[in-house]
Amino acid sequence: MINRLVSEVEAGLAARPVLLRDASARALAYLGGLADRPVAPAPAAVAALDRLDFALPGPGHDAASVLALLDDYGSPGTVASGGPRYFGFVTGGALPIAQAAAWLTAAWDQNAALSVMSPTASVLNRVALRWVTELLGLPEGTGGGVTGATMANATCLASARDAVLAAHGWDAAGQGLVGAPPVTVVAGAQAHTTVRKALGLVGLGRDRALLLPADGQGRIEPRVLPATTSCSTRSSWTSATRPGPAPSSPRSRRRVPAGAGRPSGRAARPCGSASAAGTPPSGTSTAASPRSPPAPPARDHDHGHFSAE
Ligand SMILES: Cc1ncc(COP(=O)(O)O)c(C=O)c1O
Repeated sequence: MINRLVSEVEAGLAARPVLLRDASARALAYLGGLADRPVAPAPAAVAALDRLDFALPGPGHDAASVLALLDDYGSPGTVASGGPRYFGFVTGGALPIAQAAAWLTAAWDQNAALSVMSPTASVLNRVALRWVTELLGLPEGTGGGVTGATMANATCLASARDAVLAAHGWDAAGQGLVGAPPVTVVAGAQAHTTVRKALGLVGLGRDRALLLPADGQGRIEPRVLPATTSCSTRSSWTSATRPGPAPSSPRSRRRVPAGAGRPSGRAARPCGSASAAGTPPSGTSTAASPRSPPAPPARDHDHGHFSAE
């Protein structure tokens, strides 16, 4: 048994140059056809992706046939988002140097968890972070890499949560959130759907945020920021904050109906009525501050429950 595994691994290593050249040829053929093929995959190609969904193979497949299977069924099922006629979402195609670098770094096969495990990966991470902070004008030495929007929002909200609770004598990292003072989160009614998801992840609740009206570009109107003693535990998100059908272009994605996110009921009630002990809230909004203007007069909203227009 062991001998068979060893000889399989040895055969795989010996075949690596051929396999990588095959992968390179297939990748270049794919990229070469990107400009002329339809952006969306054909329905038949999408249906054929079923061929990739099979039971866990016992003895495994020959390496060359794995690559062929991926290319034959996977490539036609892709969206040509790397091509010149794709205008969906906010994604774009990778530059050739980025693709080439990704190939090289795949060959490196590094674990970047600790600098001792890969000095090169560690230095590259540090330099990339420095460049991003310089570009964005952020303080030197701050920041970190995350996987995407959800984790960026979760990271920031977790930091804000811990800072707010620490300011009220609660060690969230040590004690968790069970029994912690309530924290009010204030968000724009058109906040991205990942903000809501992240609120759930960090224990602040997907449905507890106080949503404030935003203008046509998603900006919160500062005059509606609540005083620190005013909050609501009930809210809902506008359709603009929910996952929905893929928009046809980044421009259409940004277009938000005028008035979306407007309050649709009565004024937000004081936090004290929502806290377990009936006392004023210990946790405060990360957005509201003592300098915030008072809440606006009651408008078209219901218990701070913003309608999902
Ligand atoms: C509906 C939806 N979900 C999720 C995301 C982000 O996903 P991720 O957290 O993987 O970056 C986006 C990105 O804009 C999105 O529009």
